[in-house]
Amino acid sequence: MKLTIIGTGYVGLPTGVGFAELGNEVVCVDKIAAKIDKLNRGELTLFEDGLDELFRKNVEKGSIRFTLDMENAVKGADVVMLAVGTPPHPVTKEADLQYIYAAAEELAQYLDGYTVVATKSTVPVGTGDEVEAIIRKTNPIADFDVVSLPEFLREGFAIHDFFNPDRIVIGANSEKARSVMLKLYEPFKEKSEFLMVKRRSSETIKYASNAFLAMKIHYINEMADFCEQAGADILEVAKGMGMDSRIGKKFLNPGPGYGGSCFPKDTNAMAQMGKKYGANLNLIETTIAKNDERKAKMGQRVIEAIKNHPEGKIAVLGLAFKGGTDDCRESPAVDIVKEMIKHSDNICAYDPKAIENAKLILGDSIKYANSIEEACKDADVMVVLTEWEDFRNINLAEIKKIMSKAKIIDLRNMLNAEDAKVNGFEYQCIGAKYSA
Ligand code: UGA
Repeated sequence: MKLTIIGTGYVGLPTGVGFAELGNEVVCVDKIAAKIDKLNRGELTLFEDGLDELFRKNVEKGSIRFTLDMENAVKGADVVMLAVGTPPHPVTKEADLQYIYAAAEELAQYLDGYTVVATKSTVPVGTGDEVEAIIRKTNPIADFDVVSLPEFLREGFAIHDFFNPDRIVIGANSEKARSVMLKLYEPFKEKSEFLMVKRRSSETIKYASNAFLAMKIHYINEMADFCEQAGADILEVAKGMGMDSRIGKKFLNPGPGYGGSCFPKDTNAMAQMGKKYGANLNLIETTIAKNDERKAKMGQRVIEAIKNHPEGKIAVLGLAFKGGTDDCRESPAVDIVKEMIKHSDNICAYDPKAIENAKLILGDSIKYANSIEEACKDADVMVVLTEWEDFRNINLAEIKKIMSKAKIIDLRNMLNAEDAKVNGFEYQCIGAKYSA
């Protein structure tokens, strides 16, 4: 099928490459010339595990191309997907739909033949109606349907999730659009569940899912705080809880609070939608407030640990909002570092992928290291902020030799507490107390 994707970010690019790999003819459009130039030179504009290989392969085959030219991209397309950003409005925290609406207006001019316009971006309930109205107003003779096609890709695992989706949700109000979508998703028929719903239900499913996952993380973090006081161990507790298939094992990892470009934005947008429709969403509102509070508290924890030697070096391991990505948007690690900067001017951070993005936010307020060892050299405390797998295998005996003091604050529970203890570290983690 001929597929056009508008927006080449963390959703649009992996989705485009994925559909190209499945044999479709894909064109990706973006407004940022530097991005399109780079992609046309065969270089990726973001890091995603496994994307590089598939990207090169499909560029070479000619099954995916990149352009600034909306007209050229949209004419003749069977499906046009909107994958542009819906960032939070700085004041109201509602999803800002200006890019969606601008894209709808622009693409409308070039629709020819029956086309399905599918919204992949996370958009508030009713946006599909608005997009439909904009297209109809701009091009009254266009033959089209607007469907909601929420994406459930996790950053860092986008390629894996694209090819192995738990479910494909299609929110379409017309039979014709449903059959086009079924054709596009035909390769997933055997391995994934399909759900055909009303467009408004589909838009809600995306927010309700992200808000639920955010609440699950908030819940386990709250339990972790309880365990610290009550002498229980959150990892054991989470394991026991997860064995109940109704609860499930996933998303029970305690940490410094959730972050990223999705959960904070989507929980806030959902809370605003609750207000708009007069529906009480207390659980979501509490989750948002407590998650913000948690990040500040975690920064305080680090400062407390160096209070007797405030000029001591803090080695920060991890700046990305989670492991496996270079993305620092709404990263708890960055927020915690910002809290630490208020009290320390001796912070040195290492991240395997996210340093360049972190620099855009933190600038030269901290130093940056090229390795775990460089960050930890002469440090008073090592603070683990992102769940990179590399951190699990740190050789603590060797690191202790180069640190100035043997102290670890592991806000992702990545290290082995016993190992830390055996090597003489004072070890603090989340949701359990260890004495050296
Ligand atoms: C999230 C959802 O998981 C995807 O299904 C969804 O498609 C995506 O948002 C989106 O809306 O586009 P993502 O933001 O990539 O994906 O990240 P997650 O893996 O969900 O992690 C979000 C945050 O929660 C991270 O800061 C992570 O460290 C934290 N987290 C996650 C925990 O603290 N504990 C956990 O057990 C899991």
